[in-house]
Amino acid sequence: MTDFETALKTRRTFAIISHPDAGKTTLTEQLLLHGGVIREAGTVKGRGAKKLASSDWMAIEQQRGISVTSSVLQFDYDGKRINILDTPGHEDFSEDTYRTLMAVDSVVMVVDAAKGIEPQTKKLFEIVSKRGIPVFTFFNKIDRDARAPLELVDELEETLGIQAIPMNWPIGSGQILQGIYDLKADELVPFKNATEEPGVLAEGMDEVELLKDAGNDFDEEAVAHGRLTPVFFGSALANFGVTEFLQQYLQYAPGPAAVETVDDQVIEPDNPQFSGFVFKIQANMDPRHRDRIAFVRIVSGAFERGMDVTLARTGKKLRLANVTQFMAEERENVQGAVPGDIIGVYDTGNFQIGDTIYAGKKKITFPDLPTFTPEYFNKVIAKDVMKQKSYHKGITQLVQEGTIQLYKSWNANEYILGAVGNLQFEVFKFRMENEYNVAIQFEPIGSKVARWVPADQVDPKMASTRNLLVKDRYDRPVFLFENQFALNWFADKYPDVELEAKM
Ligand code: G4P
Repeated sequence: MTDFETALKTRRTFAIISHPDAGKTTLTEQLLLHGGVIREAGTVKGRGAKKLASSDWMAIEQQRGISVTSSVLQFDYDGKRINILDTPGHEDFSEDTYRTLMAVDSVVMVVDAAKGIEPQTKKLFEIVSKRGIPVFTFFNKIDRDARAPLELVDELEETLGIQAIPMNWPIGSGQILQGIYDLKADELVPFKNATEEPGVLAEGMDEVELLKDAGNDFDEEAVAHGRLTPVFFGSALANFGVTEFLQQYLQYAPGPAAVETVDDQVIEPDNPQFSGFVFKIQANMDPRHRDRIAFVRIVSGAFERGMDVTLARTGKKLRLANVTQFMAEERENVQGAVPGDIIGVYDTGNFQIGDTIYAGKKKITFPDLPTFTPEYFNKVIAKDVMKQKSYHKGITQLVQEGTIQLYKSWNANEYILGAVGNLQFEVFKFRMENEYNVAIQFEPIGSKVARWVPADQVDPKMASTRNLLVKDRYDRPVFLFENQFALNWFADKYPDVELEAKM
């Protein structure tokens, strides 16, 4: 096997999805610890380890004023090289978060075992499930009082509409946690500081017997297509159940996937011709540096610094010289980036979201990334009418770049911006002011339920204050409903009108 083939086999690329506070950061830290990237966990409460982990990128960050910290983390474990792509769940939640999920081969879903499935988890899961990629569930915080595991698994199956298969089972939780029962190895992994509670142990073992008799079969095919999620229990903070999780995850998680092009070619990762697509563009928030970083997921072939590629959309030739590779540490044996890996290309304005780059002669174009249904809307105007030209230029470029979505009112051609997270508006405003020198003003329309409608089914008379009629940037009609109730009312009144949600 060539170095390329060997490297390719080792790659596992995933994102962690969770509701804020479920323990994503803590679990990430533990995984980095397993990979030897950091040497100390966040000493129970602090975030010391996270700072350490990011130190390599802090230099870049300081130099360039770009926040790349923890956007991509790479570590080695058990002969595998693992890429974790960050999906911000907190205040910086945005379309970038969704688009990142288009660049991974599997997903780890972290759920707080005291709380169960929370709204943000559900939202992210829905995006992932449309891709049909494997989802591994980690019920976290069993060192605290948790809900009954059977109830948690039932809720997961019902709320998310996916089958679940327990890989291990908690015996007790919180003060009376006895351990987890590894259903595959058929043995109890005792919790280190457990105080023995024979009653709890007996009850847990009864459940284990029940599961063995009645549980779902482990169907690898169903896991691979995201129809069945392997379920693990543990405590990221106590580093309990994490090793077992990681090992089994690596056993079943798929390597880099093949990707179909717009002309129905299937590009396999072992295809020697280099190709990749841009799933995220991070703008420089430092006005002294106007450049941006385009995150490229490699689909096929090996990346070599300085290689020449073509940007499929424009045919423009580019040299990939100024590139960041997201390696967690200096290694003796630095491998080049291969499929599954992410490279960050410094960009002066060539790239748009969804762009394909490829080396060699044969043209490769991957499909556009999906449009996501925005939930928040603001009318936007330039404060200074004299700045119309820069205003239009700024909006056009930022929309192409994927910063925000653009809509127009049906008759008046007023600009309306749509986003999946409110942070996108802040970023848009900041960049309009700093890069295009245009002060803008928002007029909030609030949160809406957006549905696309076929052009030939639209009658402007159908619009009202509870369902605004607008056009998207391709002039396709969209209704913005005040809420789900208004949508249902409309659907009842006009049963023949097809209402389409985007991803
Ligand atoms: P997030 O990235 O998903 O938002 O969650 P994060 O890891 O920051 O964890 C949120 C809180 O939950 C943190 O406590 C963290 O220490 C705690 N936590 C995470 N995993 C476990 C676990 O397995 N067991 C227990 N008992 N707690 C866990 P915090 O006090 O809010 O923050 P910090 O002071 O530790 O930063």
